[in-house]
Amino acid sequence: MENLQTPQGELGLPIIGETLNFLLDPNYALKKKQQYGNVFKTRIFGSPSVFMIGAEANQFIFANENKYFDVNWPASTKALLGNMSLAMQSGHTHTSRRKLMVQAFQPRALASYTPEIISITAQYFQRWEQMGTLTWYGEIRDYTFDVASKTLVNTSDGSQTKLSKYFYDWADGLFSIPLQLPWTKFGKAMQARKQIRELLGETIQARQQLLDRGDQFSKEAIAKDAIAILLNAEDEQGHKLSLDELKDQILVLLFAGHETLTSAIASFCLLLAQHPDVCDRARAEQMELIQSNSEINADTLKQMPYLDAVMKEVLRFVPPVGGAFRKTKEDFEYKGFLIPQGWTVIYQINQSHQDEAVYSDPDTFNPDRFLENTNDRAKLFSYVPFGGGMRECLGKEYARLEMKIFGAMLLRQYRWELLPNQNLSLIKVPTPHPRDGLKVRFYCDH
Ligand code: HEM
Repeated sequence: MENLQTPQGELGLPIIGETLNFLLDPNYALKKKQQYGNVFKTRIFGSPSVFMIGAEANQFIFANENKYFDVNWPASTKALLGNMSLAMQSGHTHTSRRKLMVQAFQPRALASYTPEIISITAQYFQRWEQMGTLTWYGEIRDYTFDVASKTLVNTSDGSQTKLSKYFYDWADGLFSIPLQLPWTKFGKAMQARKQIRELLGETIQARQQLLDRGDQFSKEAIAKDAIAILLNAEDEQGHKLSLDELKDQILVLLFAGHETLTSAIASFCLLLAQHPDVCDRARAEQMELIQSNSEINADTLKQMPYLDAVMKEVLRFVPPVGGAFRKTKEDFEYKGFLIPQGWTVIYQINQSHQDEAVYSDPDTFNPDRFLENTNDRAKLFSYVPFGGGMRECLGKEYARLEMKIFGAMLLRQYRWELLPNQNLSLIKVPTPHPRDGLKVRFYCDH
């Protein structure tokens, strides 16, 4: 190990390094990759960092989680998420909590959320039809928040409640300077965290009381949200989550699931408006399904291969999460380079999805590439919108379900057109979203 060199690249200025280029230049990783190849060093967010790009790097990182890599979040994010949230836990605690929390995302749980998702989706479509023209992004954000708050914390119209206000104040401070004063972003966010935890505490206690009654009514009433499932869930030793931890775990679900889904659904709407041929084919598939069985349910949702391919391509083309950060736990060698202990490592979802060896013509939006099964194995670590390994997205199936319900219901009954004179280029941080918020005309198909 002594003779090895760290990868090529510039650490730049002390502390700030290349943070601004990284945040402001959407092609930062691509340019560096062209200059240095798939492994290069830099300094971002105050830490010497190594980018590890490509399928092989993804596989290496996913396989060595906990051995060489640990979670890595800025100080502000750590404080706001709390130590007891899945995103912050590592080692045995993380493995055991994942097993417990996955119960809220198993097929039975997802099936129980489905009627609520369908009903909220229908309400929003009616609202948008009445509005006629709208700036869609903010509306989609309210929609995904309502779905999350109903299915995760049994709160109706979440986007119109105090929970939403506190949540946005909280989210505003996630990547801020961790200076806790009443007027700083971080200070306000910490205050919002307290308020969210109070609200969650009340909801959890109400759910617990209903659970304790144990009669048929209470069983049915509580079977439909994640809080109830997680209150009942036990780890291998038969331990349940404490009230304190449950609050943080629910908060991380709201956080991880909300902006990502908003971005994914908005990209679906934008890309289909820009590709009428794809939209027509996806609509034709829905029309065919309607002939045999009009309902949208767990069974019919499985019979939409073209919509599946469209959703996969949306997540390849505009991944809501561009990459993720880790901290190295010890020195190790990768591709002949020394990667020192205590450095940051970044794996790149964006760049993986642009690999020409796997995706011919990667800059073209082409769902057909996911109908051809030939190179599925090759795609294994080149297609990582949800990450991979033991930190793979916990809500992956939930996200797919909501995207598909939204897409299928939209295509069956509605049409949308992009309004002129708007900037459709994407702002990439924190999740990709159209600069002018996606202005559309929205109307019923018949
Ligand atoms: C299209 C939507 C979504 C995308 C693209 C997405 C993407 C991701 C990615 C890339 C990771 C891994 C990050 C890493 O390697 O550190 C992740 C982790 C996670 N996601 Fe998602 N996500 C989505 C939706 C959701 C939803 C709906 C939920 C929950 C309701 C959720 C909950 C989580 C959690 C809890 C983790 C942390 C897992 C762990 O550290 O063990 N995500 N997500």
